[in-house]
Amino acid sequence: MAVLIAFYSLTGTTRTVVAELARHLRADIEEIRCERYGISFRGWWRAAADSWRGRLPPIAPATHAARNYDLVVLAGPIWAWHPCPPLRAYVRRERADLPETALLLTHGGSAGQQSLDALQAWVGKPPKARVTITAAEMKSGTYADTVAHFAQTLRPKPAPAPVPLAVDQCAG
Ligand SMILES: Cc1cc2nc3c(=O)[nH]c(=O)nc-3n(C[C@H](O)[C@H](O)[C@H](O)COP(=O)(O)O)c2cc1C
Repeated sequence: MAVLIAFYSLTGTTRTVVAELARHLRADIEEIRCERYGISFRGWWRAAADSWRGRLPPIAPATHAARNYDLVVLAGPIWAWHPCPPLRAYVRRERADLPETALLLTHGGSAGQQSLDALQAWVGKPPKARVTITAAEMKSGTYADTVAHFAQTLRPKPAPAPVPLAVDQCAG
């Protein structure tokens, strides 16, 4: 199963989580690049305001074609109670080419489920799985267990063992 993880990260948390997930799934990684936000008071203010208003920022062209994969994991942080705008811009641009998806959001501890719902609505179809990871999980290190479990739910299920034929069926 070919897996692509498309992610945006401003301060590095989602990047750390994605590296762990990619190790489990042997996935390719597409970093969504966006110049509009930076690590400064002004940059954070702009990030929160854009997220709140639903503004779509410009993002760099993708380096991996989503349509070449069986599964695309969409990952990024929550800003101002919504998935971050660069992730939204990516979904808007790639939506027609997205195969099955899975959703992963990192956050400080609020608006996790409502943000997953919003991301799912942008994608327009139910994901194979979805998960949030909090700052507390990052701090305690338990995020690694959450990621391992998430990866497990995304792996293809092994085909059922063939049912042995009864002797009279073999004889024809
Ligand atoms: C502008 C801004 C707004 C944020 N808004 C929220 C929020 O509404 N709820 C929340 O739980 N965390 C919020 N956070 C915290 C981030 O979601 C969290 O730190 C995330 O893991 C950062 O991911 P990153 O390091 O990959 O950029 C916000 C962070 C920033 C910079």
